Amino acid sequence: MIPKLTISRIIDAAHIDEVVGEFVALKKRGSSLIGCCPFHNEKTPSFNVSVAKNIYKCFGCGKAGNSITFLMEHQQLSYTEALRYLAKKYNIEVVEEFVSEEKQREDEIKHSQQESILIVNQFAQRFFTDYMLNNEEGRVGLAYFKERGFSQQTIDKFQLGFSPESGSLLTETGLKQGYQLEILKKAGLTSAKEDSRFDFFRNRAMFPIHNLMGKVIAFGGRIMKKDEKAPKYVNTPESDVYIKSKILYGIFQAKSDIRKKDECLLCEGYTDVISLVQNGIENVVASSGTALTVDQIKLVKRFTNNITLLYDGDSAGVKAALRGTDLILEEGMNVRIVVLPEPEDPDSYIKKVGTTAFEDYVKTHKQDLIVFKSSLFAAEAKNDPIKKAELIKDIITTVAKIPDAIQRSVYVRSCAEKFGMSEQLLIIEVNKLRRKNQTTKPKEEEYQGPPSYEQQVESELHKTQQVEIATLSLEYYERDIVRILMEFGAMRIKYDEQDETIAKFIFDELEGIEFETKYKYAFDMIKQTDPPLETNAYMHHEDQAIAVIAYELLTSQHEISDGWWKRYQVIVPDKQMLFQKDMFSAVLRLKQYHSLEQVKLIEEQLQLETDEIKQIELLKKLQVLNAQRIDFNNETGTVIFRPNMGKS
Ligand code: CTP
Ligand code: MN
Repeated sequence: MIPKLTISRIIDAAHIDEVVGEFVALKKRGSSLIGCCPFHNEKTPSFNVSVAKNIYKCFGCGKAGNSITFLMEHQQLSYTEALRYLAKKYNIEVVEEFVSEEKQREDEIKHSQQESILIVNQFAQRFFTDYMLNNEEGRVGLAYFKERGFSQQTIDKFQLGFSPESGSLLTETGLKQGYQLEILKKAGLTSAKEDSRFDFFRNRAMFPIHNLMGKVIAFGGRIMKKDEKAPKYVNTPESDVYIKSKILYGIFQAKSDIRKKDECLLCEGYTDVISLVQNGIENVVASSGTALTVDQIKLVKRFTNNITLLYDGDSAGVKAALRGTDLILEEGMNVRIVVLPEPEDPDSYIKKVGTTAFEDYVKTHKQDLIVFKSSLFAAEAKNDPIKKAELIKDIITTVAKIPDAIQRSVYVRSCAEKFGMSEQLLIIEVNKLRRKNQTTKPKEEEYQGPPSYEQQVESELHKTQQVEIATLSLEYYERDIVRILMEFGAMRIKYDEQDETIAKFIFDELEGIEFETKYKYAFDMIKQTDPPLETNAYMHHEDQAIAVIAYELLTSQHEISDGWWKRYQVIVPDKQMLFQKDMFSAVLRLKQYHSLEQVKLIEEQLQLETDEIKQIELLKKLQVLNAQRIDFNNETGTVIFRPNMGKS
């Protein structure tokens, strides 16, 4: 383990221009350096390296990060490997942290066991292939693959094979060659009961599953004859080396083409992958019939940000298409969906129409995920307002997961058009959801490496907002205002040489703010009552709705929050001091809430606005609001740091 301190020394020492400069020719332009992006094909350089910020960013493909992410992505290094690389480059001594001998031994055993499983898997793969090519029974398997149209080259490429029907030939052969029974069992190749043992895969066409490095980590075995009772495929049970949710079938064979085409096609089955590859479409992987997982998406993300789901035309296929897609969006990837004509799957369809027509179909039927989702249900929901509302909510939830604001706004616009809704309303809803996500989502436990440039920028942007958001709750603030109005509204207050009722003061302060929660009714009613009622009158109000709220608010213990009362130099008797603080605080926080809301709205509008003059107008508004917000923050901040202010 590299100690934390060493890690930060390495990070501090690394100069982005020197690290990137080893792999990319950089020229000086203005305050930064520029070159051709190593992550996508381009002739005019748009890859920017900022020495000052110690980061890179490509304005073409959007890739951004620091020295470590660069090495991880460009050189395919792990986080630790990247650190070691930099340590060497900058002559930083890495003294490994002490790990207990016991732990070390455990790790070693685990590691060597994993190695052994990989070795025994390699043996098994060779055995299955050999059996298919050189054994009479095995040739049934070869004939099967040939019949499905797989060429010898394809069979070799995917290392396909066949498992014998009877008994335990693989196991016995393995044992004879010196492989341990324990490891054969751990690899899932041998099942054993007491003193009998037999092969796990029997009479099946064998599809080895490779990890990124091309090592066989598991197998899928397809049944030869149609059999209602037996499953079509059986797969190696999960082990230390094979965690189904972390791998995609075909990724080893596809990875370089995925990077080259900057797109990953994702289908469901082993045979889909193999067929497409044989027909020259090589950037394809399969989720093997399960729902997509975050780990699988991250795997793809190492090579591209564009993922295209190819799904069968049947309804199960379409449903499968929707599973896991929100996850992809959360990773900031672009997701598109192609639904094949029923009853085809990618394998059968490319065989039927050939590569060119297949590619044409994909190109013309590629739908954006959200567009797809909305049209899928739009017809259904058309005449049913409840369904429609549900659908919109569902789509908005999806949109809210997209990290990129510009992309989000594009979807919001198209969604608004599609459903004939107000764009602003959708923006507000999306923002609400995003805030909710931000405040409730637990931090991922696993260390994901250093934050990317974009994450850094994003976190800077959101830091202040998040703090505010965490302490804000509209309902609470509206409630507090109504409580104060009911409790003290009729009292008089002196400030700025004026003498008014508290109610008037509050309504003046909150001019232009509409209440939004269940306290709106009471607030509006009190606003229209002049002069303000005494506390008791609310509790015995003839309007039951008012009486109920008054009772709720005036009999419950309320929290006493701090205020910015001092600014107004209020002259009040001492006994009212507490209440004064409370009132100013309540008014301020509600204003703060609405100001923040407006800021977010304008920020979203700004992303959508293409007209320059209007953009400037929006920016000006934003400036004013931001200044105001800083003011608010300072005010509340003052209170927090001077808890005894009431006595000064
Ligand atoms: N699968 C599985 N277990 C099953 C059925 C399916 O693990 N009992 C996985 C396999 O990875 C399979 C994928 O789900 O490739 C898709 O299933 P399906 O579409 O039924 O199979 P195909 O890949 O189309 O296989 P084939 O064309 O040989 O029928
Ligand atoms: Mn199929």
